[in-house]
Amino acid sequence: MIGRLFYLARWFFRARFLGRAAPLQTVLFVSDVCNLACKHCNILKRDGSAPRSKSYGQIAAELEYAHGLGSRFVDFSGGEPFIWADGAYTLNDLIRQARRIGFFSATVTSNGQQPLAGCAADSIWLSLDGVGGAHDQIRGPGTFAKLLANIEADFPSRGRRRLSVNMVINRLNSGAVRDTVEFAAAHPAIESIALNFHTPFPGTEALLLPPAERRAIIDELIRLKKAGLPIMNSVSGLKAMRELNFKPRCWISNFIMADGARLAECPGRRAGLCGQCGFCMAGEMASLFAFKPDTVFSGLNLRVKRSNGC
Ligand SMILES: C[S@@+](CC[C@H](N)C(=O)[O-])C[C@H]1O[C@@H](n2cnc3c(N)ncnc32)[C@H](O)[C@@H]1O
Repeated sequence: MIGRLFYLARWFFRARFLGRAAPLQTVLFVSDVCNLACKHCNILKRDGSAPRSKSYGQIAAELEYAHGLGSRFVDFSGGEPFIWADGAYTLNDLIRQARRIGFFSATVTSNGQQPLAGCAADSIWLSLDGVGGAHDQIRGPGTFAKLLANIEADFPSRGRRRLSVNMVINRLNSGAVRDTVEFAAAHPAIESIALNFHTPFPGTEALLLPPAERRAIIDELIRLKKAGLPIMNSVSGLKAMRELNFKPRCWISNFIMADGARLAECPGRRAGLCGQCGFCMAGEMASLFAFKPDTVFSGLNLRVKRSNGC
């Protein structure tokens, strides 16, 4: 714990005062193979081309590369990480390899359609885009029920591994935000909810929320957060996302895409979408860099607080 705090303090000092723009976290896409075809997804192939899945060796090399840049937190994404396999290797082998290399923690972002039991990650982020039909209209019939069943079957792991949910708000589910936050707050297995907005990658532009509606939702989220609901976003980060007028510090995360592309910043930037960005980590990173106390606190809670390991 002390070692991690020291590393983070040193990273911040070097980034803030010496101008060393080194990533602290890595989003690593293990594949773009998925068991769902979500309407808003920026990874889903809409051009009919075949999805790709990386080998264990490729991912191990990518982990070494990211660690060498200074990154210490890795999030495995996809595609669907829980269905990734290379021969006998599974997701848990990637997680263990990340720890061997020296990452402080490994998280997984998943659609929760597979059993979660036995997952070796420090924390799991499950995508929850509404309650019941609000979720299913985006992710497919029956996906909410399956997600819920898998969360409940995993309940005995509570305390050994952190479990949170992530909602992406778009035109289809913008009326379901409050219900979803309250659902997450009431569920004993769910620690917190992160809120993001749709980012209009090609083929998904129609789901973008009008700016006024987005601002009203952010105001509501700030009220809910201040009322004590377990919203992971910091108030400062939400305010930054409300106006989108901050200087981006998105190099704090690097991205290793399903095609192996190694990006120093978010794929949204490569697509020219910063002006319509919905990835709330952008606001969190800008507020972290500005040393906003609430963002620093929520970042430490997210990254340094220990699970008991499993
Ligand atoms: C691409 S998915 C991959 C992991 C997993 N299959 C899942 O559904 O969570 C990772 C996260 O990106 C979010 N996402 C996908 N497309 C997005 C978009 N256009 N704008 C904002 N977030 C998006 C998803 O909702 C999900 O939370």
